[in-house]
Amino acid sequence: MASPLLKLLIVVVVGAACSSAGAAASYRQPLCYSWRFNVEVNNVRDWTVVPEACESYVASYMSGDAYQEDSREALQQALSFAYLVFNSSSSASSPAFSYNAWVLDIDETSLSNAPYYAEHRFGVEAYNDTLFNAWISEAAAPALPATLNLFNTLKNLGFSVFFLTGRSEDKRNATIANLLNAGYSGWEGLILRQSEDAGVTAVLYKSGKRKALEDLGYFIVGNVGDQWSDLSGYSVGSRVFKLPNPMYYVA
Ligand SMILES: *[C@@H]1O[C@H](CO)[C@@H](O)[C@H](O)[C@H]1NC(C)=O
Ligand SMILES: *[C@@H]1O[C@H](CO)[C@@H](O)[C@H](O)[C@H]1NC(C)=O
Ligand SMILES: *[C@@H]1O[C@H](CO)[C@@H](O)[C@H](O)[C@H]1NC(C)=O
Ligand SMILES: [Mg+2]
Repeated sequence: MASPLLKLLIVVVVGAACSSAGAAASYRQPLCYSWRFNVEVNNVRDWTVVPEACESYVASYMSGDAYQEDSREALQQALSFAYLVFNSSSSASSPAFSYNAWVLDIDETSLSNAPYYAEHRFGVEAYNDTLFNAWISEAAAPALPATLNLFNTLKNLGFSVFFLTGRSEDKRNATIANLLNAGYSGWEGLILRQSEDAGVTAVLYKSGKRKALEDLGYFIVGNVGDQWSDLSGYSVGSRVFKLPNPMYYVA
């Protein structure tokens, strides 16, 4: 049995680590799982870099099976929901069914930038716009396999699939090239930030674009992203599906 003093110590140590998301040094390895869990459920917000003490934890999560398994499980739920909607739709075989839409985010959802982040300490290094844009222009990001599988199933069932990304319009060609390289084809639309969207938060930008789809007559069935800012706000869709991302945070 732990002595009262030991219990107090545990409370103090854990409390200190958990109350200071920005103070990277306070994280010890066993707490990195808790940090990641609380990132995923949106308790830990507005962090700018992965705590340095969690670099090897995040690296092994991203590079091992866990990331792929978590993604597969999340999108297995999305697939089940897609089938549920498809099976219960009286118009499933008519063109009207295509007004049922899914919205997919791109980075860390449809495409994986893990190869880039592997070169940048899996998010311990501060985000560098110049370097990341150079990576985007290579159009070399692989698909997240679970998302490509979902995409192809959605397409075969007759849903319209829209990509909605925080990337800006000047990245359109590189983004199209990358999506095609990664195996995606046959999407209904690719929505990027326009000049008038500059400075708008991700939540409001994405909400506005989803609302515009609804105004065109689409019904948003599912919405898939790796950030809560992909999945919150308004016009979020009937169900949202959160993919893991312990490498960076987008408000
Ligand atoms: C939908 O229908 C397919 C084929 O008929 C079936 O395999 C699947 O289990 C059904 N799924 C749901 C969620 O109803
Ligand atoms: C981003 O990376 C480039 C190339 O290494 C470097 O010159 C630049 O200073 C970096 N920018 C920031 C803000 O660190
Ligand atoms: C994008 O691709 C289109 C069609 O291939 C081309 O006409 C256009 O110039 C390209 N834009 C940029 C910014 O490279
Ligand atoms: Mg993303």
